[in-house]
Amino acid sequence: PRSTAHGVDGDLLLGGVPLTQFAARFGTPCYLLDELTVRQHCRDYRSALPDVEIAYAGKSMISRGVLRWIAEEGLSLDVCSAGELAVARSIGFPAARILFHGNVKTPEDLKAAIGYGVDRIVVDSLDEIEQLGSLARYPQNVLIRVTPGVDGHTHKAIATGVEDQKFGFSLASGAALAAVGRVLAQPSLRLVGLHCHIGSQVSRVASFEEATRRMIGLLAALQIKYGITLPQLDLGGGHAVPYRPGDPDFDLRGYADRLLRAVNYECSSYRLPLPRLTIEPGRAIVASAGVTLYRVITVKHGLSRTFVAVDGGMSDNPRPSLYGARYSVRPFGRRFSPATRPCTVVGRHCEAGDLLAEDVALPVDLRCGDLLAVPCTGAYHHSLASNYNMVGRPPVVSVRDGNARLLVRRETEDDLLARDLG
Ligand code: LLP
Repeated sequence: PRSTAHGVDGDLLLGGVPLTQFAARFGTPCYLLDELTVRQHCRDYRSALPDVEIAYAGKSMISRGVLRWIAEEGLSLDVCSAGELAVARSIGFPAARILFHGNVKTPEDLKAAIGYGVDRIVVDSLDEIEQLGSLARYPQNVLIRVTPGVDGHTHKAIATGVEDQKFGFSLASGAALAAVGRVLAQPSLRLVGLHCHIGSQVSRVASFEEATRRMIGLLAALQIKYGITLPQLDLGGGHAVPYRPGDPDFDLRGYADRLLRAVNYECSSYRLPLPRLTIEPGRAIVASAGVTLYRVITVKHGLSRTFVAVDGGMSDNPRPSLYGARYSVRPFGRRFSPATRPCTVVGRHCEAGDLLAEDVALPVDLRCGDLLAVPCTGAYHHSLASNYNMVGRPPVVSVRDGNARLLVRRETEDDLLARDLG
């Protein structure tokens, strides 16, 4: 991860700023985001796949500041709720570059999407096709979400390509073919392509290739069954990132190469014109740009383990409890003993499962008041955060060229009480 801080005198730096300065100025816990790393990842995608539309998956980390960077870097945007769309709309993110997703779109979601004029709505059920058909005005561009039956070999909570799950229309059962007929029957809808997303934190390029082959097979089947040639194919996101040193990296150039080869080969064997491709990376754009800072509140010795308890936890990072995610933890802010012991870093919430990192080596002299940095927290941290135990959510601070900027302020007790009408 490019933004991982490096040490000077026991301190660590991000974007040229010592982490101790962020902790002093913004408090802990605190999410940091390195702007240039996010921008660099956008550029990496655009240069690896110059003819492919890169749509940032806003669910991974959404704030106005971040969406401005995404817009400036020329990426498109994938949103999945009226709320995410409201953030995009508030900064004037071009509607022509927005896709609207989701297996459940309420009438409010659909109206918001139509009202802002988002370019494409990715339909996910027959009910939605009917509803959208009656709400939309021609020509509302539509993609159909297909479940291609491909296993991304990822955690089951984030595997979305296999059969028998809530997303999309099954390819194998013929539901996807039937959905095409239903969209074509809606005069207000213009079917422009197909979409699939096989899962998240997927590291096997072969899974993406297989999904691509199957989707192009379906494009060919549509030519035969309906006599239509759809111009677009959206292959979703899900590219894995290494969370800890030594985790496998996702080879973007290799992926790009193999994806384009698969598309070219399949299209030429079916004699199909090349569709315009879209991909939707979220995590790969923002994860490694993020670092979360915590303060140690206590160090407790259990029978066989040492617990390091910090001032955050599953409310700012539920990923270890939800997906068994593993993180590395780096103490900073002073010189520590080189001797370490295995520790479990736990949070402040009232459940035993509230862990941030298990079995990490931390200095034997770590104590109350010390600071810890957890790298690779830019994706699905701020966006997954909760107010469990009425704990306010941390601020998001961006850094660029040695300057820190508060993107999202810390949630206060007044914020927490504001919706409670007594
Ligand atoms: N496109 C669609 C339609 C999606 O549903 C998702 C993620 C993406 C793109 C972006 O996937 P990415 O490139 O970020 O992997 N909360 C989980 C991840 C849930 C992903 C949901 N959909 C986590 O923290 O691992």
